[in-house]
Amino acid sequence: MRVFETEALAARYGHVEALRGVNLHVEDGELVAVLGPNGAGKSTLMRAIMGLIANTGTVRLQGEPLPRRDPAALAARGVVMVPEGRGIFGPMSVEDNLELGAYLLGRGDPLFEERRARVLGLFPRLKERLSQVAGSLSGGEQQMLAVGRALMAGPRILLLDEPSLGLAPRVTAEIMETLGELNRQGLPIILVEQKAPLALKLANRAYLLSLGRIMAEINPREITSHDELSRYYFSA
Ligand SMILES: Nc1ncnc2c1ncn2[C@@H]1O[C@H](COP(=O)(O)OP(=O)(O)OP(=O)(O)O)[C@@H](O)[C@H]1O
Ligand SMILES: [Mg+2]
Repeated sequence: MRVFETEALAARYGHVEALRGVNLHVEDGELVAVLGPNGAGKSTLMRAIMGLIANTGTVRLQGEPLPRRDPAALAARGVVMVPEGRGIFGPMSVEDNLELGAYLLGRGDPLFEERRARVLGLFPRLKERLSQVAGSLSGGEQQMLAVGRALMAGPRILLLDEPSLGLAPRVTAEIMETLGELNRQGLPIILVEQKAPLALKLANRAYLLSLGRIMAEINPREITSHDELSRYYFSA
């Protein structure tokens, strides 16, 4: 069953065509990686999907076309993104950041409490820091909060834009492990990463994006060496 797809998705910044006719899809239960060098258009792809920038083409969730420029409607349908740079609210507490993720429910709703318990179970370090302001968390903890806040929205598909950015390898490994666990629990995920080997460890499939186009679809099981991966990059 196809959970999610884009068809001929395109976006431009002025004269710059940053995204050109991107077709990608996510099947039920898949974790799909989007790889590519700096400036390839990965964040643009995420922003176009979420309707945060002007774009053309079609995005479907479970076969239903989604509105093109209505981020709130997308969130309500369960298309949720953790943006590059995390996008948490630094001056607000961890608790309030989490609550914002579920603004459609509000405290006291049984579903709210259920989601909150699940997030704090996944990220015990957030539980110990609920009243701390988010800006004073470590980079890794901030990324955990960003993922936790996204989960509070009850995603049917989760998009992550370079969650490893600026994090130490050990912390990155911890975050990746949690993403793998969420995916095993049944959450479809699109993971944008520049650190290809990390993403390929988790991914069922991967797309290689270059100059705004998908240049290749990669089966991670067929990539056995770093050399092979470099070949993909250089041929793209
Ligand atoms: N707001 C903007 N205005 C003009 N050009 C932009 C804007 N944002 C991105 N671009 C350009 O669009 C292209 C794609 O950028 P994008 O941020 O999507 O790349 P990326 O793959 O996410 O890169 P990175 O790995 O560095 O995050 C780049 O050439 C970039 O310079
Ligand atoms: Mg980016």
